[in-house]
Amino acid sequence: MPKPYVIVSAPVPASLMATIEQKYTVLKVPFGKCPSQVLSPKQLAQVQGTINTVATRLNGKVMDLMPALKVISNFAVGFDNIDINAATQRNILVCNTPEVLDGAVADLTFGLIICLSRDLIRGDAYVRTGQWEQQGPPPLTSDIRGKTLGLLGMGRIGSMVAKTARAFDMQVIYHNRSRNYEAEEAGLAQYRNRDDLFTQSDFVSIHVPLNASTKGSVGAREFALMQPTAYLINTGRGAVINENDLVNALQTGVIAGAGLDVMVEEPLPASHPFCQLPNIILQAHIGSATVETRHAMISLATQNLLDALQGTKPQAMVNPEVF
Ligand code: 8YV
Repeated sequence: MPKPYVIVSAPVPASLMATIEQKYTVLKVPFGKCPSQVLSPKQLAQVQGTINTVATRLNGKVMDLMPALKVISNFAVGFDNIDINAATQRNILVCNTPEVLDGAVADLTFGLIICLSRDLIRGDAYVRTGQWEQQGPPPLTSDIRGKTLGLLGMGRIGSMVAKTARAFDMQVIYHNRSRNYEAEEAGLAQYRNRDDLFTQSDFVSIHVPLNASTKGSVGAREFALMQPTAYLINTGRGAVINENDLVNALQTGVIAGAGLDVMVEEPLPASHPFCQLPNIILQAHIGSATVETRHAMISLATQNLLDALQGTKPQAMVNPEVF
């Protein structure tokens, strides 16, 4: 009997690929390509599962081309690339990779906080270009210790950032749609209303998912609430921020600076106004991009796919009602 088809559009290592291939025929779809751009209608009609990255957008139209599709296994914790309602309506289970990347994303968040407050990127250039030799020590920077870190979003990643902040003796406040009493009781962070979070923080770090209610939700109004010495960090999703408003706020000194791992358009074109700003640090969506974390993510995504296809409850489901 021919093996059922699954799409692999994520970096599945050879050993895991061999496990998938024991039971399924793998159709490889290049990174970010929509399956319908690469596969024939006949192939699509037989696809039962897919492992894909956040660069693959899967809406109802695409799902309709794959009537045999049972599971979408996203190689990411975020799932804004997938129309979850459309999947649920079609009885397609969506899985993701929570928890395994919390540490790596929290580390990067702190990397950006430290780089911004201690001006490390410019500091490196200061040494390399001989300015240290010619002009003496660089300007003083500012402490992290004792400062207030405001977390917008207090889920798993926000909580991990709060834990990390303990080592830096920061005061941690948060705002979340619903209160995280567990985090409060553990002494990780104190709740603030949304405006107070922006007003009181020295660093605002974004850890909310991207959805209709968060899209563009951090803009001119929020920057105006922030202190002119405050920094904005985003390791979540670029589109939560209104980027034009951020460029304005950075150009006019409404806030001191920003550290972004994520942008509305990825890869960010080098012609983007962000790339001209001296008070921003940019990274190429590398929050989870360590060998260990990506390995844990792809192992979980593969297991989610295999479990769902054979009717075993996967570890991480976005729409468990389908299972
Ligand atoms: C991506 C991410 O998964 O988990 C998420 O939501 O955005 C990242 O970890 C990663 O870039 C692989 O596509």
